[in-house]
Amino acid sequence: MHIRTQLRLIILLFIVCCFAGCSAQRKNVSKIVNDDGIIVGFSQIGAESAWRTCNTRSVQEAAAERGVQLVYDNAEQKQENQIKAMRSFIAYQVDVIVFVPIVTDGWDNVLQEARDAGIPVLVTDRKIHVEDQSLYAGFIGTDSLKEGRNAGLFLLEKFAHMREQLDEGKEYINIVELFGTEGSSVAIGRAEGLREVLKEHPEFRIIYSKSGDFLRSRGYELAVEFLDMYEDIDVIFSHNDGMTLGVIEAMEERGLRPGKDIVIVTIDAQQAAIDALIEGKVNCVIECNPKTGREIINLAERLAAGESIPQLQYVHEDVFYETDDLSLIEPRGY
Ligand code: AHR
Repeated sequence: MHIRTQLRLIILLFIVCCFAGCSAQRKNVSKIVNDDGIIVGFSQIGAESAWRTCNTRSVQEAAAERGVQLVYDNAEQKQENQIKAMRSFIAYQVDVIVFVPIVTDGWDNVLQEARDAGIPVLVTDRKIHVEDQSLYAGFIGTDSLKEGRNAGLFLLEKFAHMREQLDEGKEYINIVELFGTEGSSVAIGRAEGLREVLKEHPEFRIIYSKSGDFLRSRGYELAVEFLDMYEDIDVIFSHNDGMTLGVIEAMEERGLRPGKDIVIVTIDAQQAAIDALIEGKVNCVIECNPKTGREIINLAERLAAGESIPQLQYVHEDVFYETDDLSLIEPRGY
């Protein structure tokens, strides 16, 4: 690597540390340096789930493969940390900013600052609401509305028989929803997708919906709460596998059989959820694909070269059903 580039990176890391309040305790800023290439500032929201860790690794590996210098910041689930990191990227004039917005709102000002500095911004994984769509170059990630719809479609099929037989003794199919992070586009999309499919089917009723913040520990805590509150739960719709694993633990502690006493639909498709599907503890796993690093870096390179990119790009995602030939599922790698 040229001395000039090395110097540029050292200064950049110094600025990132200052803006992001770096201290001996906060060691979230790291870099991947291969050789001379573009510099991309990457603001990730944290490490709340196996999905997230895989997503970060995917971006880091793709950057290393392409010789892209990645300045990575872990915002520890705080929007203000993300904004600070983005400001530091702007101060240094990175070539492109890539960020995963923890929530949809509150990005207009920092995006305007990036635009004023002539730095293109790529949004990934989670979507944003801004007054002016042209404040960012494009979005690449998964389709959370479709994920939620797929959950609804699975339930229509799974309960087709029971739906015909509901009577005064059992009037509803009761759903518990474990919501992701409040205000995040993925949680909103997943919730909306499910409701959209079930709205013509009043026999389905959501009796409980609370945010578990995509955390396994919160999934466990909420399960302890709703299992105490309700006796007649038919379905648990969990916005991610981490929370689902917490639910399974809580159910088994009570002697309940996940996937049998209560139908479980989960999103992400990490290996532990696929294993649970194979064991019959989960009934449907909807993939949310975290391995988007190559596409992200490719788009960042195009932006750095002054090209325009599509405003909206979704990556491929599968759905795994209990009735599939599960031996055909490739190891998930996370
Ligand atoms: O934004 C994607 C979601 O965030 C994943 O479903 C979840 O596991 C993660 O933490």
